[in-house]
Amino acid sequence: MIKNTVMEAFLPAKEGYVVAVVGATGAVGETMLEILAERNFPIADLIPVASSRSAGSVVSCAGKDYIVQDLESFDPSGVDIALFSAGGDTSKEHAPRFAEAGCYVVDNSSAWRMDEEIALVVPEVNPGALEMARSNHIIANPNCSTIQMVVALKPLHDVVPIERVVVSTYQAVSGAGGKAMDELAKQTGALLNGQTPKTDVFPARIAFNVIPHIDVFLESGYTKEEQKMIDETRKIMGADIAVTATTVRVPVFYGHSESVNVTFSGKMNATQARELLADADGICVVDDPSSEDYPLASEAAGTDPVWVGRIRDDNSFPNSLHLWVVADNVRKGAALNAVQIAEILIRQP
Ligand code: A2P
Repeated sequence: MIKNTVMEAFLPAKEGYVVAVVGATGAVGETMLEILAERNFPIADLIPVASSRSAGSVVSCAGKDYIVQDLESFDPSGVDIALFSAGGDTSKEHAPRFAEAGCYVVDNSSAWRMDEEIALVVPEVNPGALEMARSNHIIANPNCSTIQMVVALKPLHDVVPIERVVVSTYQAVSGAGGKAMDELAKQTGALLNGQTPKTDVFPARIAFNVIPHIDVFLESGYTKEEQKMIDETRKIMGADIAVTATTVRVPVFYGHSESVNVTFSGKMNATQARELLADADGICVVDDPSSEDYPLASEAAGTDPVWVGRIRDDNSFPNSLHLWVVADNVRKGAALNAVQIAEILIRQP
């Protein structure tokens, strides 16, 4: 259970709230609808919104059908909370219009994350940052790889401050959206049938391959995905931690895995870390080499927690540990985190 840090309510107490899901026909939007239903979010009216391409189509939530509205002509007056997952450009253009109409926007794109005025929130880590949203009504949901990593780092950092993090990711294709999942399925089918696969979404063939390239390259030689992990981790943790990242796409549908090497400013060992992580909000520790038990993307897929295992002292460097961190990137990495933020917005002190 996430601690109640709300001093003053964001939204008045009501039996149900008007919730818009912008990007409701996408991979994350569909999961937002599922999670709202699963968690019995109090909804008076649910409004799925997408582009004109899918306006008029039907999506369902908690057994009820809803007609998808066209974002361009949609009037946000009366909406309490809008969960956006329709890409950065869409969010830059439309989130301010929703916020000005009085609604709280929780945005899953990277459009607002590094804006100094905008809260970048992981409820288990920095719920207090939500205070920033009282005036501007926009809250950014962090990058999927960052979310699961900071959930695992925070309980350790609270006890012994972290100095440096070296992370390598193994990221599922669902992080790149519905078309990316289709591309992996089609390429796999083509290759198994001796045909030449087509590559449209990824920079190289993803089936039976590993691609060390997510998002565009920057002048520094890092990719934008890597830079997001570096910048967002520091903003969310509110600490001057040295972070470096290599982000890699792997042919997995759901579940990002991460190898995280952490150096602390003082003594921390694997036994203490295992105990701290086992007690932390939102984390499940699976770490038993004697029975070959460790977190797997295949088992994390469809679940809510951040799974941590392979916790071991890094024998090559003082005060350092290795962690293996796995989570469902579409749930905790995106949709669930957004719904958890919405739950804080409706919480009463
Ligand atoms: P649509 O189905 O109308 O294209 P994914 O990340 O799985 O590719 O999904 C992207 C989501 O964002 C979809 O729901 C898509 O709607 C929506 N979307 C993309 N571009 C826009 C836009 N310009 N306006 C509104 N919704 C958009």
